[in-house]
Amino acid sequence: MGTIRAVVVTPDAPGRLALGQIAAPTPTPSEALVRVAAVSLNRGEVRRAQSAAAGALIGWDLAGVVERGAADGSGPPSGAQVVGTLATGAWAELVAVPTHALARLPETVSLTEAATLPIAGLTALHAVAQGGALIGRAVLVTGASGGVGHFAVQLAQVAGAYVVGHVRSAARVAAVRETGVATVVVGADVRAAEEHGPYHLVIDGVGGETLSQALTLLAPEGTAVSYGRTVGPGVELDLGAFFSAGGLRLYGLWIFHELRREPAGVGLARLIPLVEAGRLRPHIALETGWADVGEVAQGLLDRDFPGKAVLLID
Ligand SMILES: NC(=O)c1ccc[n+]([C@@H]2O[C@H](COP(=O)([O-])OP(=O)(O)OC[C@H]3O[C@@H](n4cnc5c(N)ncnc54)[C@H](OP(=O)(O)O)[C@@H]3O)[C@@H](O)[C@H]2O)c1
Repeated sequence: MGTIRAVVVTPDAPGRLALGQIAAPTPTPSEALVRVAAVSLNRGEVRRAQSAAAGALIGWDLAGVVERGAADGSGPPSGAQVVGTLATGAWAELVAVPTHALARLPETVSLTEAATLPIAGLTALHAVAQGGALIGRAVLVTGASGGVGHFAVQLAQVAGAYVVGHVRSAARVAAVRETGVATVVVGADVRAAEEHGPYHLVIDGVGGETLSQALTLLAPEGTAVSYGRTVGPGVELDLGAFFSAGGLRLYGLWIFHELRREPAGVGLARLIPLVEAGRLRPHIALETGWADVGEVAQGLLDRDFPGKAVLLID
């Protein structure tokens, strides 16, 4: 069996990540062999790499070209440009991907743009879906400058909502405003968004005090989706206020659970036409060769840039 290059956990490298050699993948009958052209980084996997054992593989998001279609005939054929996701190990030059986790790309969507979609875009898609019918309803997205948040403000607008984005610093306002969002609220206290609420849907990946405050802004029958704990796992909740508001819901979103209900390929096929139509614009703050993976991962952990970083496989 031959070897290929892949990103592996390397304790003494920047960001604990560097290129290494691994065994070439052997697809099962329902997997396509994909030559990867671009990958994007997510905070969750990069954080996991900080404690993973040396040699562990990493990576969820990938975009590339099918080298060999699945033997069972499912999924895209050889030569098709695709985007997809793996449970881990997507940051390699060649990967075997279950065909239900792949979606075919039109020529008008670049592999770089597509690489940003899987985990961040699908998390935002499933979070927005929790709000039900959103036409004319107020939606608050905290951490709107993040990978998921930036997609969520856009998808909530596509769904017809009046969207308010929250960012902690003024430096991030411009990037969020570019999405066409109605209002951007800035500062440490999310309750500054109260005047634009109450909110039918809150989408939060910051956690801690941010989620505690955002929960007080829900309208009766409103839903808060919690998908992240960037600042910490604890939340303060006034239960009396929470239940007496009437019909409030706190939904814990774990993307890998959502993908068991609806395969990634289905959700990606819903997002791609929106990118094609210019209604969903990935915010790519950084695009560089994958040899820089460690520095880019460290920059993501340090929040040196907003939005997404894409690595090109050369
Ligand atoms: N449950 C799931 O399935 C799932 C899926 C995807 C992501 N996640 C998790 O969700 C979180 C966000 O993911 P992501 O990929 O969007 O991360 P990201 O791109 O790093 O974005 C992080 C966001 O949080 C904000 N933030 C960071 N520190 C903050 C603080 N102290 N106070 C207020 N805001 C702060 C950032 O604002 P600045 O721009 O100002 O730094 C940014 O908007 C991560 O914890 C990730 O692990 C979970």
